[in-house]
Amino acid sequence: MDTLRSTYLDRIATAADGDALEQVRTAALGKKGEISGRMKELGRMTPEERQTTGAALNRLKDEIDAALRARKQGMEDAALDARLREEWLDVTLPGRPRGRESIHPVSQVTEEITAIFADMGFAVAEGPQVESDWYNFDALNIPPEHPARQEHDTFFMARADGDTRPPHVLRTHTSPVQVRAMETTGAPIRVICPGRVYRMDMDQTHTPMFHQVEGLAIGKDISMANLKWTLEEFCRAFFEVDDVELRFRASHFPFTEPSAEVDIRCSWEGGKLSIGQGDSWLEILGSGMVHPKVLRAGGIDPDTWQGFAFGMGIDRVAMLKYGIPDLRAFFESDLRWLRHYGFAAGDVPGVAGGLSR
Ligand code: DAH
Repeated sequence: MDTLRSTYLDRIATAADGDALEQVRTAALGKKGEISGRMKELGRMTPEERQTTGAALNRLKDEIDAALRARKQGMEDAALDARLREEWLDVTLPGRPRGRESIHPVSQVTEEITAIFADMGFAVAEGPQVESDWYNFDALNIPPEHPARQEHDTFFMARADGDTRPPHVLRTHTSPVQVRAMETTGAPIRVICPGRVYRMDMDQTHTPMFHQVEGLAIGKDISMANLKWTLEEFCRAFFEVDDVELRFRASHFPFTEPSAEVDIRCSWEGGKLSIGQGDSWLEILGSGMVHPKVLRAGGIDPDTWQGFAFGMGIDRVAMLKYGIPDLRAFFESDLRWLRHYGFAAGDVPGVAGGLSR
């Protein structure tokens, strides 16, 4: 029994591969294998002999079986290790040196604005930059003969010859997204709509493409008071000053009634702008209660629902917050400017973690 045992354990330990191991299994434990042969001899033994030899043979069988399994597992593990060594692939990229690439102030400020309004329960909606005449004007209560159409310095898209429908426009404001959002979401609704807008205009504070964010909140009893609170809360968070003071000046927009332009208290002492103190006022946005006709255009019943809207220039508040003097530089793609005014890629704004550096 001992010779049998050491022979097979030895052969198992030295088997070169899986096939060799399988041969050892057949030789030892197979139907015609040596252990099975010995089992058959049990019949010729006395009952006492049969009992001791049988039990010993069974133990040997188990022992060889376990050794076979262990060796097989060892071979598989080694094969896997070898494959992992051979097929190893470095998928990491070298780290980027900080301070070379940076986030554009418009992107950063859009993220900041989104974070603040998200915290107040506003979702983000987007619409097309090439917009139909209807969404950009009519749906916002600006019919074709309305003088506001002229004030918008609109870029028109060309129509094919003979096509007499009104041409599409490059949207002149983000207000059309209000109507699209009403259509898709219905009331109640709370959204902001940031994005690019276009007007034929160019000087230190105007570029043909710029950015706005539209805000819209519709409910059963939303009032100007809610608008005022929301905007004050926003300004406090955005400009990171506790004492902000806003001034609501009566104004006129076709899509709101009543309408107000909103100024923020500031000072220009020593040529430096600071928000929240001083004797100057700076206009930052237009706002009002959404006109019943606009609600209707968006498929919302003005007898049940009402709400406020506002529109703010993103570039403008970016200039104010970060002291950037010339709007045109925003879009000149000058890397030196971007390195000076840009933000590191890791500076993700959040209401809890602080909005700016
Ligand atoms: N659409 C206006 C503009 O581009 C801004 C605006 C004013 C938006 C009042 C509004 C609003 O939603 O209520 O000048």
